[in-house]
Amino acid sequence: MSGLSRSRIPGFYQLSVADRQRMIAGVAELTDDERALLLTEAPLSLETAARLTENTIGVYALPLGVALNFVVNGREVLVPMVTEEPSVIAAASNAARLARPSGGFQADADASVMIAQVQLVDVPDPDQACARLRAEQERIVARIDAVEPGMARRGGGGRGVEARVVRAPLDRTFVVVHLLVDVGDAMGANAINTIAERTAPLLADIAGGTPHLRILSNLTDRRLARATVAYRTNDLAMPGRDGAKVAAAVELASLFAEADPYRAATHNKGIMNGIDAVALATGNDWRALEAGAHAYAARDGSYGALATWRLESGVLRGRIELPVAVGTVGATVDGNPRARLALKLLGVSGAPELAGVLAAVGLAQNFAAIRALATEGIQKGHMSRHARAVATAAGARPDQVETLAEALIASGDVKVERARQLLASGTLGGPAS
Ligand code: MEV
Repeated sequence: MSGLSRSRIPGFYQLSVADRQRMIAGVAELTDDERALLLTEAPLSLETAARLTENTIGVYALPLGVALNFVVNGREVLVPMVTEEPSVIAAASNAARLARPSGGFQADADASVMIAQVQLVDVPDPDQACARLRAEQERIVARIDAVEPGMARRGGGGRGVEARVVRAPLDRTFVVVHLLVDVGDAMGANAINTIAERTAPLLADIAGGTPHLRILSNLTDRRLARATVAYRTNDLAMPGRDGAKVAAAVELASLFAEADPYRAATHNKGIMNGIDAVALATGNDWRALEAGAHAYAARDGSYGALATWRLESGVLRGRIELPVAVGTVGATVDGNPRARLALKLLGVSGAPELAGVLAAVGLAQNFAAIRALATEGIQKGHMSRHARAVATAAGARPDQVETLAEALIASGDVKVERARQLLASGTLGGPAS
């Protein structure tokens, strides 16, 4: 299949799961082993699960899907997503499809610079100590590179040292040192924590005082990713709605989130629906992404919107910027064959490119959510998917799910209890329950 149609597969959602697997295996040129990873219904052995975490008693599974239609920096991208939430993958695919006529998404990301934080307590002269730490930057960076020589060899390593006096409650004062380290294509948490622990004695020698906490910061604001998109208003028309009106309605929704933290929290939750799903699929730490995103949203002292929309000369322009600390190498990614498969579908060259794709997915997810909210509301689309989930939860056979879902919606009571009653009543028609 040509590169140009890699992510555009019309009617994909109507195919059977087996046909989708065949289609994606062909498009992404999966090997037999990789395809087998999609086919199995038992993705993780209990033995492997027990090695990953403690007190294991079972395995918990989530669906892996692909969002289609994404074009990022001119490249067709298949976006693997792991989520339990109905509508997320369909919404992202739809937003990406509408962006295709205007060239899709532009995205970029900073180098993968993480922050190792060291808290120094009982420092005799904090201001003097900060000055000494800054003056000794070269020695400290050399220590960082001695702790993680492999990182430096691969072109990453120590990038700088910052020191601040932090005044805390109970009249305490700390010197807080930030070690800036480029972790390359890794997420880098382990390396950064090692660097924090092993460099702390040198910092205490220079500053005086005692090292206390030594840990990365999840506010990874040296590792930002950005994406933009420009929807042509003509492409946004909906049945009974002019495209310019839809664009204006999206802008109005954006202004609400930009002005009100209560709305911004939900606006940003929608963004993270997409970003977390790709993070999960690629074996990345979505809690770290959540922490970074929300801390960044509050960086000006009040909590705001991570993505914004403006109607500018006939174009609806969306922008997003947030910290995205993700890796394409490292223990969790390398040790998880499905994460490697997800990275193969994405076809990214390394962590910064993955971060840019995540920003684009977040922006698409946000557009889809607020376009629906600003026009017909989200319940219409949600309800039919929710009704299918309720029907399945109530024990409907696959051939009964559609009919039962429709009956639930018609009854206005989309609940498992009601679904069980309908199943038991035998009034569904079609194959007997
Ligand atoms: C639901 O998971 C996400 C939304 O609430 C996001 C939003 O309100 O923008 C639909």
